[in-house]
Amino acid sequence: MFKSVTYDRVAAMSRQPGRVGNRDNLELVRLATLAASSHNTQPWRFRVGEQFISIQPDRTRRCPVVDPADAHLYRSLGCAAENLVHAASLQGYAATVNYDDVADAVVVSIDAVPGVTATELSRALVTRQCNRGMYDGTPVIPEHIALLMGAGTGREVRCLILTETAEISAVSELVERGNLAQLTDGAFREELLSWLRFNPASALRQRDGLTGRVNRQPPLPTALGKTMAPVLINAAAQAKADSARLASSAGVAIFLASTDTKEAWVETGRAYERFALQAELLDIRSAFLNQPIEVPALRDELRALLHITEEPQLLVRFGHGSRAPYSLRRPPREVIVD
Ligand SMILES: Cc1cc2nc3c(=O)[nH]c(=O)nc-3n(C[C@H](O)[C@H](O)[C@H](O)COP(=O)(O)O)c2cc1C
Repeated sequence: MFKSVTYDRVAAMSRQPGRVGNRDNLELVRLATLAASSHNTQPWRFRVGEQFISIQPDRTRRCPVVDPADAHLYRSLGCAAENLVHAASLQGYAATVNYDDVADAVVVSIDAVPGVTATELSRALVTRQCNRGMYDGTPVIPEHIALLMGAGTGREVRCLILTETAEISAVSELVERGNLAQLTDGAFREELLSWLRFNPASALRQRDGLTGRVNRQPPLPTALGKTMAPVLINAAAQAKADSARLASSAGVAIFLASTDTKEAWVETGRAYERFALQAELLDIRSAFLNQPIEVPALRDELRALLHITEEPQLLVRFGHGSRAPYSLRRPPREVIVD
């Protein structure tokens, strides 16, 4: 009990409302790190300059099995860059994002432009979360779907939204087959296991990874969690749970990019983050189900199902439901490099 109170206190501290006011680099980085990242790996390092903050990949935090090309890693950097844009607006700065191929970094220029005010999306920076719970099955109204699509569209990136039951069922079947492919693969399971934090104490030590608490799972001693992994990470059970969760959702958003380059991955991350911030403002929950994109054969099937030639990048379900506990982040000072 004591430990979970501490967990919640640390989570709440890192999610204090964004401060409006003068330039404060630590505050900008704090808000950037509240972005989504694959397996909550937080695969970023921030270099702070007077007129820019660059976000570099931290390759020690790669997931080579699920993400061999580092596509999710660069999408995660894009998520952080998008947060930085809205964080900068709170301090009166205009920010522009570009991927620099030579430096292999996402460079966010921070420009003092008179008259810049806080963006709408900046209001959702500290409360956005992925919510893997069941939703209540109610539809999202067309005006809100239009806002989500608009937010999820960007440079070279399109957000396609499916709301018909038959379409969602077809996606659900691909997710189920993705679960079977991934969770029966020993290397995938081992990598996933290495990012699971079975109890609040272990989550607090590392402040990254996937914490049971976020998904309302009871805490387990780490050794016991690892022993029970074959039961806990079970393809059939996961497939059944994901199918029920999809059926409880109002729709599915699929992010498509015209190319499959680092730049497109970064832009996709930005588009997803805007979508999620917009969803948060509308009190709409969302969670990823990327299995059909991560398993190459299923990615081709998804493309055929959607009748598209673009590259599917991310798959997200959304709907109405209750809020979940928050995931943790490493402190900003730990991710800033000289
Ligand atoms: C590129 C990318 C891929 C992700 N893939 C999945 C996924 O397949 N399944 C899932 O449940 N969450 C996925 N996530 C969500 C992360 O697990 C989540 O962002 C992280 O745990 C931090 O939690 P928060 O977003 O609630 O702050 C993904 C996030 C990103 C940015």
